[in-house]
Amino acid sequence: MKAYKVPMSYNEIDAAGLQAVLDSYKDDSHQKIIAGFEERIIMLSGAPQAVALNSGTAALHLALRLLNIGPGDTVLVSTFTYVASVSPILYCGATPVFIDAERETWNMDPELLEKALSELAGKGQRPKAIIVVHAYGMPARMDKIMPIAQKWEVPVIEDAAEAFGATMDQQWAGTLGAMGIYSFNNNKSITSFGGGALVTNNPQWAEKARKWSTHAREDRPHYEHLELGYNYAMSPLSAAYGLMECVTWKTKIEARRQVFEEYSAVLGDRITGQQELPGMKSSRWLSAFGLSDIKNLQQLIDNQDFEIRRVWNPMHKQGVFAGAKAYLNGTADALFEEAVCFPSGKIKAKDFQQMCRWLQKML
Ligand SMILES: Cc1ncc(COP(=O)(O)O)c(C=O)c1O
Repeated sequence: MKAYKVPMSYNEIDAAGLQAVLDSYKDDSHQKIIAGFEERIIMLSGAPQAVALNSGTAALHLALRLLNIGPGDTVLVSTFTYVASVSPILYCGATPVFIDAERETWNMDPELLEKALSELAGKGQRPKAIIVVHAYGMPARMDKIMPIAQKWEVPVIEDAAEAFGATMDQQWAGTLGAMGIYSFNNNKSITSFGGGALVTNNPQWAEKARKWSTHAREDRPHYEHLELGYNYAMSPLSAAYGLMECVTWKTKIEARRQVFEEYSAVLGDRITGQQELPGMKSSRWLSAFGLSDIKNLQQLIDNQDFEIRRVWNPMHKQGVFAGAKAYLNGTADALFEEAVCFPSGKIKAKDFQQMCRWLQKML
């Protein structure tokens, strides 16, 4: 790995802040720290239930298990996403069907979703779930997606791994479907240096997810296991870090939104970002932009100072999912050809100015 002067999304470890949180819990059990973090997630997101886990991927896996998804089942999922949105479908032995993005938000195209559901229904198939991704923190068109999902009676899992704090009409991404997941991994806006959460309004699901996350141990004085479980629980150290992050979450997200605005102001019509539609507020986890002119794209990516990366190569193109059905309109493929992510975390003003001057020359 190259050490960039300006990395993509770097979080420094605040050891003193972590120590202060641990001190405030010193007379309590470790479980209390985790419960404290869950309470904060509930308070901030407005989700009635939250289960803290050791990754967003684990949260997605449990969400699929809660919907009883297994071999022979189909799950519709955004193709323009990170692989972790899709792998848990395979962990369950189920089959992904990919849905392309629409041009404004770069998220699941509601028209293609409708087409997929109606075509599958014509063959007597009903997908067991839809995983909608809020890519780079930008809310998907949930105003359109939810009524379609409801019409076809398919539950929606929101992959809000990158969208902690993003909202639609003041409601948090992750709280609009049957279940939502967040990631707090090292590079996320709000981090616990490894962690995730499942949110839902169903208390039975939350209770089951919590139980399954600790090897499904029964509440007995001895070791008793009646169901298959996982080692997915969050560590108290991560929860303590997450608790600290929840104090400054708003400032951190506003700072990322500001970075996006500055790129837009400096580079003008040379770049086109994901578009916030009326009512939407993106968390702008990463500042991702389509480039009007891609002749220097490779040079941008190869530079040694500023970490610039192509956006995802869509999942329908990945060998690991070869053969999976996909409903496509060309958007995700086009984005892979023309769009990049710029450094988006905390950036020193001097470095940011230097990078912007260079980008002005390159684009
Ligand atoms: C869109 C998306 N889904 C799922 C995940 C999985 O989260 P985690 O890394 O916490 O397992 C990530 C994060 O890496 C992600 O970006």
